[in-house]
Amino acid sequence: MSHIHSPALERTGFAVLDPYDQAADPAEWLDLAYAPWRSSGVTRFAPLASHSGEAVCDGFWNHTPPRADKDGVWIPAQTALAPTLVRRAQEAGANIGRCRVVELQPNTYADAIYNLHQDDNNRLNPDGTGWVVRGFYNLTDDPESLLILRQDRFDPASEVRLPLPAGSRIVVDTQRFWHAVWHRGTAPRYALITSWTSGPELDAHLAAEHARSDVTSAPLDPGVIDDAQQELHRRIEERRHAFEALGEVLEPTVPLWP
Ligand SMILES: [Fe+2]
Repeated sequence: MSHIHSPALERTGFAVLDPYDQAADPAEWLDLAYAPWRSSGVTRFAPLASHSGEAVCDGFWNHTPPRADKDGVWIPAQTALAPTLVRRAQEAGANIGRCRVVELQPNTYADAIYNLHQDDNNRLNPDGTGWVVRGFYNLTDDPESLLILRQDRFDPASEVRLPLPAGSRIVVDTQRFWHAVWHRGTAPRYALITSWTSGPELDAHLAAEHARSDVTSAPLDPGVIDDAQQELHRRIEERRHAFEALGEVLEPTVPLWP
């Protein structure tokens, strides 16, 4: 027995949907309450749905009783401020686990490469049920910023770079991919991130929104990539030494922020 996966994500592990026209939507993300929450980069999160409706960000397995990233409970004080974002998360028709808005400060490509991580969405997810994947809906207009996906954390040849203009929608198996965002703007980037359960409902949504993975990766100067690779290894070594100084061992293949 294994989990139920979306055929649309089977081959590449991600899919780009038709862009959503949000020109007429209010900027609800600016009204939400944010909490500092360390993710990939300098981030804060505004939770919309959580384990039991409290305004918290962490995994459902860290609560009592622990459970998989499914059946998220809406947080009334937040959803009242962002009905459009809630509707957009619900439009997929799939079960929702965590749902939140991320705020990311500008960073560098080297930062993003160092921040690459795999999510842990499927902890406690029962065999035979739907695999949890994530939707990334860009709210701000960041056409120069890139969602970076790598099959192999250390191999830039396995990298795909997807631009993030307003309304861009990308669904990713974030437990399979190492991922992070290179935000090249000057103002913070905001995105709606939703955990969805794979199954017929999500499949229907992906089909209706013309999900495709045959997209062209944004070009990047090989010199920039080489420099970032060196910086990645330098930072890991630096971190390893810091751990050793504390008498601990850093396992370099373990995600930094699960
Ligand atoms: Fe992640």
